[in-house]
Amino acid sequence: MGLLKIAVLVSGRGSNLQAIIDSIGSGELQAGIVCVISDKPGAEGLKRAQKHSIEAVALDYSKFSGKDAYEAELLRVLKEKSPDIICLAGYMRIVGKDLISAFRNRIVNIHPALLPSFPGLDSQKQALDHGVKVSGCTVHFVDEGCDTGPIILQKCVPVLEGDTEETLSIRILEQEHRAYPEALKLIADGRVRIEGRRVIIS
Ligand code: GRF
Repeated sequence: MGLLKIAVLVSGRGSNLQAIIDSIGSGELQAGIVCVISDKPGAEGLKRAQKHSIEAVALDYSKFSGKDAYEAELLRVLKEKSPDIICLAGYMRIVGKDLISAFRNRIVNIHPALLPSFPGLDSQKQALDHGVKVSGCTVHFVDEGCDTGPIILQKCVPVLEGDTEETLSIRILEQEHRAYPEALKLIADGRVRIEGRRVIIS
């Protein structure tokens, strides 16, 4: 395989996108970002892309007649860019079935908890409310479920006395910024294979 072609989907801040951009910039991750796509036209992630001369595509969800029309256009754009891997980086929508089957085992997501604990939204709050003593982040392949796909790697952080959702989120985010480029590097280096639920790293 040549240089790994990555498309990144964002809805907001884009700090994980930035970590991927930086990792490519430093030569650590041998990949190229073919486009950054957002369902929110004002997403900071789109500005980060533009700043680094990466094609930024805004697909304003509110301008579509519904989920099907939006997903069809998203799929059309992605097929045109033909990435090897699609990274969800703070992309706040459930990916539709057509996209998942068109890019089977080629969509990855980062989640701010140690899956399968605390899937879905507000994971850091869920972790605090549950009273766990460690949490962290998970990079995983995307399947039809919500945060259920095969796990590529995880990183842990302690949950400290007095943590708030904010302080815990910051501690987890630092690890996210290491985990996402690391997982992509494993993929770029051809070291990742899926066997059922398990991801084998060679
Ligand atoms: C991260 O915590 C990520 O795990 C979650 O959404 C957040 C996105 O942050 N899926 P950013 O947009 O990458 O800064």
